[in-house]
Amino acid sequence: DSAELGPYRHYMQKEIFEQPVALANTLNQALAAGFAPTLFGEDAAAIFTTATAIRIIACGSSYHAGLVARYWIEAYTGMPVSVDIASEYRYSQGLEQRGTLIIAISQSGETADLLAAIRNAKERGEVKILALCNVAHSTLTREADLSLLTQAGLEIGVASTKAFTTQLAALYVLAGSLANARQTLSEAQLLELANWLPRLPAMISAVLSQESEMENWAQALTHFEHALYLGRNTLFPIALEGALKLKEIAYIHAEGYAAGELKHGPLALVDEDMPIIVCAANDSLFEKLMSNLREVEARGGQIYLIAEPGCEAALPYVKSALILPISTGPLAPIVFSIPLQLLAYHTAHRKGTDVDKPRNLAKSVTVE
Ligand code: G6P
Repeated sequence: DSAELGPYRHYMQKEIFEQPVALANTLNQALAAGFAPTLFGEDAAAIFTTATAIRIIACGSSYHAGLVARYWIEAYTGMPVSVDIASEYRYSQGLEQRGTLIIAISQSGETADLLAAIRNAKERGEVKILALCNVAHSTLTREADLSLLTQAGLEIGVASTKAFTTQLAALYVLAGSLANARQTLSEAQLLELANWLPRLPAMISAVLSQESEMENWAQALTHFEHALYLGRNTLFPIALEGALKLKEIAYIHAEGYAAGELKHGPLALVDEDMPIIVCAANDSLFEKLMSNLREVEARGGQIYLIAEPGCEAALPYVKSALILPISTGPLAPIVFSIPLQLLAYHTAHRKGTDVDKPRNLAKSVTVE
């Protein structure tokens, strides 16, 4: 084991640091192909052009990747997108609109609820299935019409890290490919989206170099029993994922919330015993997020801010801030995942939990 782990203490830490390579490997083919639908299979161009709606189905972290994809696909294609948890979808009712493209996201391709959900979807209407999976020849990819493999390599840590961010990268490519096939963006707009991709591995490396600041935050976080994660737009699902990571491995009760929902409930919980981790992009919603920060600060909440450069106006309201070393553009959800993974990892390590094999959880849930 120790030879395999190299300088790392746990597989999870190693896998967090493998992300620049995992992302580069996943994007390799896509970069050569541009946003060509053929990346997803021979029939992809025809299926993408005629699809009437999109339904994303997944479990766990893969579900959170699906929630991010909804923002990208809606923004770039104007298509209606819904996102379902597989264990809910499979027991729900309702027919699928003809031509619906079902996107099934799964690291393993063997999650029982997901397999049941896609089989069920096929009975509900004339749908096509697109699989996004990290395992070639999995049950999921065999049963799908179209597929794209993420190239995360073997992920051993039960809490997903590199499998999650490579799913996001693949979903961004999918959103661009759908827009390309359906001609919903201009050539210049597509090029602008594509131009972010080759920069991604270096962006991730730059953020990984801020690890020691997350170690400092972890020191504070171990003393709390609850935490709240906030974000808006594509960073809302990343707040959900950050909270999930903390629950899974550090056994701290954490909730992710859309920042705008704060006043509809969680604000009642805010006091000096509630750390609040906020993800802030330097975008058109930053002003809205600032007013959320003021609401929290006025109630004594301890804000830990992760922000893009340009968000410095928030600094007077926060206890501690991590300003990312780069602008993240549309890839914000991928980049912001990194400090949240590191924060959960170091908090768990400090608490002495079994980071790679958290209690009661399994890497792949192949039975119901
Ligand atoms: C388990 C794992 C999670 C994963 C989820 C879905 O709960 O611990 O990390 O996100 O299953 O797995 P899948 O292989 O379908 O992505």
